[in-house]
Amino acid sequence: MSAISYSSHGSTEVLEFGTLPQPSIKANQILVHTEYAALNPCDFKFRRMEIPSFIADFLFPKPKIPALDLAGVVAEVGADVTTFKVGDRVAATQPIVHTRWGTLSEYSAVDASHAALVPESVSLRDAAAVSLVGLTAVQALANVATSPGDTILIHAGSGGLGSFAVQWASKVLGLHVSATASAKNKDFLESLGADVAIDYRAEGSDAWDAGEPEYDVILDPMSYAYESRVLGTGVLSPTGHYLNIASSNWAPGKGGIEEANGLRTYLNLAYYGIKNAAASVGLGEKGMGYSFVAIVPDGEMLAGILAQLEKGAVRAVIDKQFDLAEAKQAYEHLETGRAKGKVVIKI
Ligand SMILES: NC(=O)c1ccc[n+]([C@@H]2O[C@H](COP(=O)([O-])OP(=O)(O)OC[C@H]3O[C@@H](n4cnc5c(N)ncnc54)[C@H](OP(=O)(O)O)[C@@H]3O)[C@@H](O)[C@H]2O)c1
Repeated sequence: MSAISYSSHGSTEVLEFGTLPQPSIKANQILVHTEYAALNPCDFKFRRMEIPSFIADFLFPKPKIPALDLAGVVAEVGADVTTFKVGDRVAATQPIVHTRWGTLSEYSAVDASHAALVPESVSLRDAAAVSLVGLTAVQALANVATSPGDTILIHAGSGGLGSFAVQWASKVLGLHVSATASAKNKDFLESLGADVAIDYRAEGSDAWDAGEPEYDVILDPMSYAYESRVLGTGVLSPTGHYLNIASSNWAPGKGGIEEANGLRTYLNLAYYGIKNAAASVGLGEKGMGYSFVAIVPDGEMLAGILAQLEKGAVRAVIDKQFDLAEAKQAYEHLETGRAKGKVVIKI
């Protein structure tokens, strides 16, 4: 089958377009003939990582096919799978580590529990585009009991994740949404349902941390850079909830390790966890909620997300589409950190 793969870690130069054997499936898997894949920053962050080869090869067996999101048609069904049949239109997000099967190839072996049927009225391109970002946004927001009208600030609202999260928060949960992006993306944020679009470069009373309102929730895919600013400036209500989305800089770091969440995040996670656990048994007052979010593939949840696309409550936002052979250029575009919605690949 045609596939993009890499056998050593590094820049886009390690990506090769060639042929690889088609995967064979296990009893709990389906073989998907992929029509569209979508890219996410974690693809290139793990690809760049120069870690010792015995760890790299354990986490990312080689040749490694990059990318996690796909949508296509079921070509074969494992012996134990009862939920799908050959010919079904499906979408899925693959696990990040310990598999060589990414989605930039004609066929992928997918655990049936990670896949969802795509409703007839939803295109396979749109289904691939919303998978990982949809799961991340919905899993993050599941940490908070919100009511319509509560206020939320969503950072990087114009990116792949943010452009989905803004819509979900506004149109599915009925929240009052503020979102950050650069000034050129103000109209775009508003078209997604943001009530307030904030230029993250603004200063003083126009800045996102100016203090009014105190948000009930902050969903932060810029946490590697913004966590201290969020927690230190009173921008979040004292009873609010910080959704720290595991993140890192787009710019390549030393040894392929980008500036990312570190000790500060783990200390905060422990501090707020212990404080709120103590409050729940009557020791001290309950404080701010704090969650550290990393996406988990989940076919059932993905089906719920696709149902909202079918209803027209949310839509896939496509920034650019590339062909499989153009994967290098597609990643170079995503790696600028300026994508406006999702970058998708037609297989
Ligand atoms: N933990 C998880 O499970 C998970 C899941 C998905 C994503 N993530 C992480 O979340 C981050 C965002 O992912 P993504 O898919 O949305 O990436 P993306 O599509 O590449 O995001 C690009 C967007 O980020 C915006 N941006 C850049 N710098 C910003 C800043 N300082 N403040 C506000 N917005 C800024 C840009 O807006 P302008 O062009 O207007 O500047 C651009 O539209 C990445 O680090 C990714 O790895 C984590």
